[in-house]
Amino acid sequence: MNPETRTAAPACVAVATADSRYDILIGGALMGDPASWRGLPAAAQAVVVTNTTVDALHGDALRHALAPHYRQVSTLALPDGEAHKDWPTLNLIFDHLLRHGADRKTVLFALGGGVVGDITGFAAASYMRGVPFVQVPTTLLAQVDSSVGGKTAINHPLGKNMIGAFYQPRRVICDLDTLATLPARELSAGLAEVIKYGPIADPAFLAWIEAHLDALLARDRKALAHAVKRSCEIKAWVVGQDERESGLRAILNFGHTFGHAIEAGLGYGEWLHGEAVGCGMVMAADLSAALGLVPADFVDRLRRLVERAGLPVTGPALGAARYLELMRVDKKAEAGEIRFVVIESLGRAAMRPADDALVTRVIERHCAPA
Ligand code: NAD
Ligand code: GLY
Repeated sequence: MNPETRTAAPACVAVATADSRYDILIGGALMGDPASWRGLPAAAQAVVVTNTTVDALHGDALRHALAPHYRQVSTLALPDGEAHKDWPTLNLIFDHLLRHGADRKTVLFALGGGVVGDITGFAAASYMRGVPFVQVPTTLLAQVDSSVGGKTAINHPLGKNMIGAFYQPRRVICDLDTLATLPARELSAGLAEVIKYGPIADPAFLAWIEAHLDALLARDRKALAHAVKRSCEIKAWVVGQDERESGLRAILNFGHTFGHAIEAGLGYGEWLHGEAVGCGMVMAADLSAALGLVPADFVDRLRRLVERAGLPVTGPALGAARYLELMRVDKKAEAGEIRFVVIESLGRAAMRPADDALVTRVIERHCAPA
C-alpha cells in the first residue's frame, strides 16, 4: 500500500436499527489502536473465532489488542473455506465455548472474511440465546458488505445461507492494513460488492469506481478507505430502513440470484462469492435491459467494469434449466416464483418477477453453452 496515501483519523459510519446502534470504524492500524476497543461490553472472557489462514496472519495482532480488556482470551481457528460454513463447523464453535466455560457475557470476535463473520455471528446469535459479538473483517468483501447489517448464516447442501438469523454486531472494525495480505483474486471478489452499490444506490459512486479502479486494484490506501466508507454508508442507510429485508434491503442482492445459482451449481467454493456476484450483476443488468428498464449500453458499461476488476463475466455451463431450478431455492423466491433485483434507472433498484423464457435468453447470452 502507498504510505503517502494513509488516512489519518479513522472514519466512523453509524448503523442504527430499531433496537441496535453500532459503529463501523474504518482506517489503517485500527487493531493496534486502543480507541478501537474502548466501550465494548465488559466481560471476563473473549473468544477469537477465525480460520487457520487469517489466524497465522493477523491473530496475534487481535489477541494483543484484546489482552488488556479481558482476563481470558482464547482462539478457535476453523478450517478455511466456504465449504466449512456448515453445521459441523458451527458445532466446533459451540464445543469451544462450552469447553472454555463461556457465559452470557462472553464476547466473540469474528476475525476473517465473510465466512468467519457469518458463522461466528450465527453462533453468537444462538449460544445461550445470544452473546455479544464484534466483527473484525479482513477481506474487502467483508469490510464493505458481510460484516455490516447483521445477516448471519451457514449454508445447507440445498441452498446458500439458508440457516441463519438477523443478529447485529456490537462494533465493526475495518482495519485496512489487513487487506495488504489479501490475495489478488479475493480483492477482486470484494470489488464486486463495491461495484454493486453504484447501480443500486449511487451513480456518482459508480463513476468514482470507474475512475479509481486501478488505484483500488493497486490497494491505494486513500482509494480503499473511500470505497469501504461509501459502501458502508450505503449499506447502513439501507439496513437502517429495512433490517429484516421486508422490502428495500433486497436491493443489496443485485446480481446475487444468478450468483447464488452459480455458487450452488458448481459447488460452494469453486467460484468465489464475489466472482459469482460480479457475473450475476452483468446478467441482472441484461435482464433489466430486456425488461426495458435500462438501455443496453448500461449492460456493456457494467460488464466492462466487472471485467476490469478481474472478475469473470461469462457464467459456467450449467444449462438454463439448472440455473432456473437453483434460483427457485433463492430466499427471495415466493411460491416458486423467482424474483430478481433489477435496475429501474441508474441508482435505483427494485424487485421484479420475470418470465422463464426471458431469463433463459439472458442465461444463454451470458453463460458458456452446456
Ligand atoms: P472468505 O471468508 O472465504 O475469505 C476469503 C479467503 O481469504 C479465505 O481463504 C480467507 O482465509 C482469506 N483471507 C481472509 N482475510 C485475509 C487476509 N487479510 N489476508 C489473506 N487472506 C485472507 O470469503 P469472503 O469473500 O470474505 O466472504 C464470502 C462469504 O460472505 C460468503 O459465505 C457469503 O455468503 C458471505 N456474505 C455474507 C453477507 C452478509 O450480509 N452476511 C454479505 C456478502 C457475503
Ligand atoms: N449482502 C446482502 C445483505 O446484507 O442484505
